[in-house]
Amino acid sequence: MNSPRLLQLHRDSDGAAEAAAGLLLPRAAVPPKFFYDAQGSALFDAITELAEYYPTRTEAGIFAEHGAAIADAVLARTGAAPVIVDLGADNCAKGAALFARLSPQRYVAVDISAEHLAASLAKLQREHPALDLVGVGLDFAARLELPAGLAGPRPLVFYAGSSIGNFDPSAALELLRQARTLAGDGALLIGVDLVKETEVLEAAYDDALGVTAAFNLNLLRHLNTLLGADFDLHQWRHVAHFDRAASRVEMHLEASQTCLVRWRGGQRAFAAGERIHTENSYKWTPRGFTALLREAGFAEPRHWTDARGWFALFVTDA
Ligand code: AVI
Repeated sequence: MNSPRLLQLHRDSDGAAEAAAGLLLPRAAVPPKFFYDAQGSALFDAITELAEYYPTRTEAGIFAEHGAAIADAVLARTGAAPVIVDLGADNCAKGAALFARLSPQRYVAVDISAEHLAASLAKLQREHPALDLVGVGLDFAARLELPAGLAGPRPLVFYAGSSIGNFDPSAALELLRQARTLAGDGALLIGVDLVKETEVLEAAYDDALGVTAAFNLNLLRHLNTLLGADFDLHQWRHVAHFDRAASRVEMHLEASQTCLVRWRGGQRAFAAGERIHTENSYKWTPRGFTALLREAGFAEPRHWTDARGWFALFVTDA
């Protein structure tokens, strides 16, 4: 039996400085990557089970209905037994769901922490003893580049869950250009959340159980640990709204009263009603995302959607 290889390429030494700098911006903003400490990751997993949060199950439904056609489109580009490079692999469940149809020769799971991938990859190895499994710890939002030879000449680059929506369009274009280089003569398979009614979108980001609110507020708890800050979570509330002109759901944390927040080496007073911007989640039209893929250098994007047209899976050659 093989055993998974783990490569940690990212050192998270300046995370605290980046978060503190965001708190001091005239309009405070902390990047969404600070959601994902252990508790934030568990809350995100709970979000994907919510009735209101349709993206995860809608994407899975498209795979269930069109999996054979999607696999054919991928294999026509990569050839048989491709290397799968799974960006933001998390618990590797979505990547592993492709194994039955694609029979990969190697699965490269990429996430910010290789250590977080270790347990999932060890479990996968027991289920697939002969498969070459590699976990790469990389902040690919900063730069998507893998060690030479790992992806091979015709890999499938897989980016599920509409995480591309958490990048503004210019950053999304840059990431897709880097994915294009990584994909070489292979293919990209990417999930994209689509524009829809405001009520559906706002409910998905402000559910009745308050799980998304807890996920957002947990960022302050994480900053308390990371920066030695003294955010009082009772003084903040979760706000989510869809800005149709910008085509994005915005998440903010709003101070419900005046407060002074201190952390190691800094402090800031917030007025009642002042906000910290924590996330954008862009929603695309099929036409808009097709144009973005073409601009990034992908040649012939195809896509599949669900019956309601809420989500799309794109396959495109490099
Ligand atoms: C990870 N990402 C695609 C999620 C999204 O829908 O933008 C993060 C999330 N934020 C609130 N709910 C889920």
